[in-house]
Amino acid sequence: MSVSTIGVIGAGVMGSGIAQVAAIKGIDVILLDVNETAVKTGIDAVESRLNRVVTKGNMTVPQKEAAVRRIKGTTGYASAEDIDKGMKLGCKGPLALADMIGLDVPLAVMQILHDEFGDSKYRPCPLLKELVAAGHLGRKSGRGVFSYQKN
Ligand SMILES: NC(=O)c1ccc[n+]([C@@H]2O[C@H](COP(=O)([O-])OP(=O)(O)OC[C@H]3O[C@@H](n4cnc5c(N)ncnc54)[C@H](O)[C@@H]3O)[C@@H](O)[C@H]2O)c1
Repeated sequence: MSVSTIGVIGAGVMGSGIAQVAAIKGIDVILLDVNETAVKTGIDAVESRLNRVVTKGNMTVPQKEAAVRRIKGTTGYASAEDIDKGMKLGCKGPLALADMIGLDVPLAVMQILHDEFGDSKYRPCPLLKELVAAGHLGRKSGRGVFSYQKN
């Protein structure tokens, strides 16, 4: 399935970052937030990050301008139903998502939270520790909760 346009709800840290990645890849983006200031802040953040990429010589100015132009801002509150539908259509199950991130990452996060707060609710589950110790880190190692090895 080829995707030519995506919609992103929220132009904050995550939303502007997702918009940036898509726009660099040539995908048109409709970036929605609750008001014009939030939308502009999100698009400005993309431009500012891409300026640094240009400065490092990893992108030309016309490429940067084309990427920023692909992002069209709009306003309007996403309803609870909109947000729920987006999650249902766009998100993986939590275990597949953990495999995609890499199981060592949530393990490290849980260990830091546990060490810092000393609260047992942050104790990483034994199975997560076992999988990481065995090198089953998820997609990047070919096996995590699920197997990604080709037959
Ligand atoms: N920042 C991270 O590293 C990170 C990592 C993983 C997941 N997340 C999750 O991603 C989500 C966004 O995080 P963020 O860091 O980008 O937050 P953020 O505060 O930077 O941005 C959120 C944006 O969403 C907008 N927004 C809120 N309700 C809205 C609505 N009903 N309609 C339209 N826009 C709305 C806000 O105005 C804001 O601009 C959160 O659920 C967060 O837990 C964040």
